[in-house]
Amino acid sequence: MIEQFSNDVDAGLSHAQKQLPSKYFYDKTGDALFVKIMALPEYYLTRAEMEIFTMQTSAMISALSLNKNKYFELIELGAGDGSKTKKLLKRLSEQGYQYDYLPIDISENALEQLEQSLTNELPEVSVKTQQGDYFDILENLKVSHHPKVVLFLGSNIGNMLDDEASLFLNNLAETLNVGDKLLLGVDLIKSEEEILPAYNDSNGITREFNLNLLTRINRELGGDFDITKFDHYPHYKQQEGIAKSYLKSLLDQQVTINYIGKSYKFKAGELIHTEISRKYDDHLLQHIIKGSGFSVQNKLVDQQTLFADYILSL
Ligand SMILES: C[S@@+](CC[C@H](N)C(=O)[O-])C[C@H]1O[C@@H](n2cnc3c(N)ncnc32)[C@H](O)[C@@H]1O
Repeated sequence: MIEQFSNDVDAGLSHAQKQLPSKYFYDKTGDALFVKIMALPEYYLTRAEMEIFTMQTSAMISALSLNKNKYFELIELGAGDGSKTKKLLKRLSEQGYQYDYLPIDISENALEQLEQSLTNELPEVSVKTQQGDYFDILENLKVSHHPKVVLFLGSNIGNMLDDEASLFLNNLAETLNVGDKLLLGVDLIKSEEEILPAYNDSNGITREFNLNLLTRINRELGGDFDITKFDHYPHYKQQEGIAKSYLKSLLDQQVTINYIGKSYKFKAGELIHTEISRKYDDHLLQHIIKGSGFSVQNKLVDQQTLFADYILSL
């Protein structure tokens, strides 16, 4: 893990356009900050998707065309705190569906907390967690031939560029069988006024979340980033439909990372790209699923049409 982290940081900071992979946001501090972000008034994404999971649970279950007499696996990629999924788990269990819940997350800490909270809140649900990068774990899914429902919620797919998202869905489809389902939660394209505040909250939590990546590099890789010399820089244009987060160097400076044994120069105003959040519409969704074998079975949206959960079938 540390080797991979150090290789990714070195590769990212050696690029002409410096970048750091967003998956490294999620250490213990990052997990806790993301839970805070989800509760922010500006972060409409979680509230909108939670509304879908709360108010349209029955429609969701029927759109998934599940059979009460047939065991299935409910696999969640990047489960996080599972707060929305719990609504679905509860209803499935109440209605007597037979399934195991298999959450996958890169964060060990997030999985431990999720397992603990499920034991307390929904002891009837059988949970088998798997820690790792979901890109790597996809391969393991092939081993079982049970019917599968895969959840990929919270605009997680938005962290990928369109080509990456297409490739990911193609790879995912190859690990599944005909009739298996994917529930894909995406944020919908809308104006700058509506989207940008979600990535630039007035309490500065998103700023803290972004800067925590540098703190993590300092702690785990022996870096000497002075985080007071970097700032959070979000960007979104409706025409492009992609919210981007950067860390901006506030002055000319040099940072050394001992584990890598290298120093990196930053110019005043230079940006490190840390995250994208792709926004979707039906057309873009069709574009990324093209050739994968997935087709749209249903689409559930919240009352304000901010967010969509697409139900895709193979
Ligand atoms: C934006 S949060 C969403 C959490 C949850 N799905 C939701 O909708 O609220 C992203 C979650 O995915 C996990 N994650 C991010 N990149 C990952 C990767 N490459 N492999 C596995 N998990 C990942 C993070 O640890 C985090 O828990």
